[in-house]
Amino acid sequence: MAKFIVNGAKKKLTGEISVAGSKNAGLKAFAAALLTGDEVVLQNIPVIEDIARMCDLLAALGVKIESVGDRAFAVRAAELSSTNFDSEIAKRLRSSIVLTGPILARFGHASFPYPGGCVIGKRPIDVFLKGYEKMGAKIIEREDGSGFEISAKRLRGAEIFFRVVSVTGTETLMMAATLAKGRTVLHNAALEPEIVALAEFLRVCGAEITGAGTPTIVIDGVEKLHGGTYYNPPDRIETGSFAALGALCGKNLRITGCAPLEIMSLLDHLGAMGVAIARGKDWLEVSRPKVLRAVDIKTHEYPGFPTDLQAPFSILLTQAKGTSLMFETVFEGRLGYAEDLKRMGANIVVYDTQRAAFNGPSALRGREMESPDLRAGLAFIMAAAVAKGESIIHNAYIIDRGYERIEERLRAIGVDIKRAE
Ligand code: EPZ
Repeated sequence: MAKFIVNGAKKKLTGEISVAGSKNAGLKAFAAALLTGDEVVLQNIPVIEDIARMCDLLAALGVKIESVGDRAFAVRAAELSSTNFDSEIAKRLRSSIVLTGPILARFGHASFPYPGGCVIGKRPIDVFLKGYEKMGAKIIEREDGSGFEISAKRLRGAEIFFRVVSVTGTETLMMAATLAKGRTVLHNAALEPEIVALAEFLRVCGAEITGAGTPTIVIDGVEKLHGGTYYNPPDRIETGSFAALGALCGKNLRITGCAPLEIMSLLDHLGAMGVAIARGKDWLEVSRPKVLRAVDIKTHEYPGFPTDLQAPFSILLTQAKGTSLMFETVFEGRLGYAEDLKRMGANIVVYDTQRAAFNGPSALRGREMESPDLRAGLAFIMAAAVAKGESIIHNAYIIDRGYERIEERLRAIGVDIKRAE
């Protein structure tokens, strides 16, 4: 199993790091390609493990996927060889659940396991099942409880209110509704930029959608969609992670090919910590300030502080002067990494699975760690970059799920990191 070996930075990180295409938006564009039998071209797709797993999953269903250039794919789902998901692959990918929308809408049946992904909480799928029921689908839970069979001659439009704001729930039902009979209105929809990007692409393919990016999305079903080209936006979580890294140990670290306006909450919190940030339309420049001030963080659905930046940002809190309160409101199991940080020397009081206090600054010492999830894995690399001595971060695959060639890109800005088998 590959691992990363990191030696604490003896010097500030500097230079330029460019942001890859969005993991979470790119994954959903592959799902959207199933809504038409025409060829769809997807561009600026990151070279990461989750995209590879998504391609495996689609290929197992009979979807034709061809690389057509650097980070570009031609996808063609003229017909499927099956609508039963390969459980082994689907269970490794939360976004496998997103495929149920297009497949149900276009082929009338989907059989799938409970989705997998990061172990950051229960991650139920009730909003998906309730939405499908409202749209007239028949849902049967498999006897062994391993998953579901869903069928519908043709989905019908419905008024759907999300019990909780769900990113993939919004994306999946929005896609399903594009081919349903009649109008669907999604209330309490998620506002993430990835949803706006997905809706724009669906409209390019002929869908009738208004309101993406607002709490109410209206979709008027059409008979069929045609092909189109999708250009994947930059990954805003990578952008925020690199901005936090620059604030932690950077000197004029320049982050390019990004969309600063999509991480205003993070930038606002960095500002509150005393971090000076220069920014343009598609770049940021960040340096470690003399003194990092403590700041309280409460994660929140977009445009609030992203839960996916909670772990990377927490490393800054261990170095900030004073007490910072962390309240993770979106997932109930996303503070597990704190124990490893405490073993590195961080002063953290964990009150429950969602609340903790970070007292700093505390000197960190290199340790051997295992990434519990993708974002905590990157946080461990960040902690190791400012810790004294050597750290070993096992299970590199988990980090490779969402960060392309991470050790090469970090080494280029001065992190002493290498990959080892
Ligand atoms: C998406 O997950 C992202 N993943 C996550 O990123 C991200 O953390 C999350 O949105 C929140 O922004 C992908 O897009 C592939 P949710 P998702 O449905 O859609 C509860 C990463 O690191 N909920 O918005 O699965 C759920 O338990 C990953 O890139 C239900 O109760 O998250 C959570 O508490 C990690 N029932 C809350 O809603 C449901 O049916 C928000 O979850 C669905 C969700």
